[in-house]
Amino acid sequence: MPALVLLGAQWGDEGKGKATDLLGGSVDYVVRYQGGNNAGHTVVVGDQKYALHLLPSGILSPGCTPVIGNGVVVDPSVLLSELSGLNERGVDTSKLLLSGNAHIITPYNVTVDKVTERFLGKRKIGTTGRGIGPTYADKINRVGIRVQDLYDESILTQKVEAALDAKNQILTKLYNRRAIAVDQVVEELLGYADKLAPYVADTVLVLNEALEQDKVVLFEGGQGTLLDIDHGTYPFVTSSNPTAGGACTGTGVGPTKISRVIGILKAYTTRVGSGPFPTELFDEDGEALRRIGGERGVTTGRDRRCGWFDAVIARYATRVNGLTDFFLTKLDVLTGWEQIPVCVAYEIDGRRVEELPYSQTDFHHAKPVYEMLPGWSEDISKAKSFSDLPKNAQGYVKALEEMSGAPISAIGVGPGRDETIEINSFL
Ligand code: GDP
Ligand code: IMO
Ligand code: MG
Repeated sequence: MPALVLLGAQWGDEGKGKATDLLGGSVDYVVRYQGGNNAGHTVVVGDQKYALHLLPSGILSPGCTPVIGNGVVVDPSVLLSELSGLNERGVDTSKLLLSGNAHIITPYNVTVDKVTERFLGKRKIGTTGRGIGPTYADKINRVGIRVQDLYDESILTQKVEAALDAKNQILTKLYNRRAIAVDQVVEELLGYADKLAPYVADTVLVLNEALEQDKVVLFEGGQGTLLDIDHGTYPFVTSSNPTAGGACTGTGVGPTKISRVIGILKAYTTRVGSGPFPTELFDEDGEALRRIGGERGVTTGRDRRCGWFDAVIARYATRVNGLTDFFLTKLDVLTGWEQIPVCVAYEIDGRRVEELPYSQTDFHHAKPVYEMLPGWSEDISKAKSFSDLPKNAQGYVKALEEMSGAPISAIGVGPGRDETIEINSFL
């Protein structure tokens, strides 16, 4: 059994943590391939709730090796505190592997993220303020700091100097901030070296050897398809590739090894931060989705913007990721609505448009065209099989499947591991 990718099909927070954890018990490796601690993945095991930001959700499955791939950006202080937080709760984290090629989020990257957002004013992206964008910018500009640099003080110092040369000019002259001292940054980063050393590995080699030995590798995406730097609602996106191709570049595993690409799809839509969102609700339905769905950010505590399901986006996610399956989450949240609107197309300047427009201007003008589906009132949280669902809930799932272009192979009816209806096995 080769590799599987599990990723967000919308704007993030679809329930990737829960889905990954569910599969974690049956796979050998769970690998994060992009993003950083902008992610907030919630896993509920029995009466225990975990919020993971940087660590792959497989860390909670004892047989599974968690891996942070080269495509991830790593804030060492966040990683270490996440590890110690789990250790305090009795979770063994000793198997973690961290790519020596992963880039480090430095303190100045966090500063630049916050200062830039403030400077943008009402045009801000609404980032998580974790330094994600500036760290990827340094990587692309070839002035980034990698995990392996922590083990060569001279190289580290030269690289921090190179990065701060230009940044200090910008911070002091443009943003009116104090310059950041090279030696302070170097000292802080060197302080992480010994603590991280036990985890640092050639993860490309490890993963490819594992696949040669028929081990099962699961790639866990952060964020979601519409937040992808290339395929998302640019510029209101994150700075990495959560889409399926990112799993290859972010881990060094070739596309021929990937057999399944699972899109995690919420039964309605949410978004955090700025940017267009055609089905967003500003009425009591939106408020109800937020309240019933507990739609508050795991990372920043911001209220999530809520709206109805958007099939145009789901179809787009199927296409750009080559999805083989969907995992539909939070169906239980929709219980109690007499009728549920589902966006089947957009109206853009008087035209009906079936597919996501490539033009940013058109997308900003997109108005949802809704179809009404009959709702249900029965509690579905105990449903174990598709046939346990009320007829109208079955109809809702079937309608979404037909509109979205890939089979729905699992359905979430609650946050817990066992609150899942499995239709087709993923493994
Ligand atoms: P992620 O970032 O994609 O991992 O998602 P988040 O953890 O940020 O947000 C998803 C939220 O929905 C979490 O609080 C989960 O515990 C919860 N959740 C996941 N699946 C389900 C489900 O099927 N039903 C309900 N009610 N909650 C779910
Ligand atoms: P998970 O993995 C939802 C959003 C931010 C902002 C934009 C850019 O939990 O689904 P960044 O800090 O990445 O530069 O911010 O992306 N964003 C997320 N929204 N879920 C996430 O992660 C997100 N990670 C980033 O709100 O709009
Ligand atoms: Mg999240």
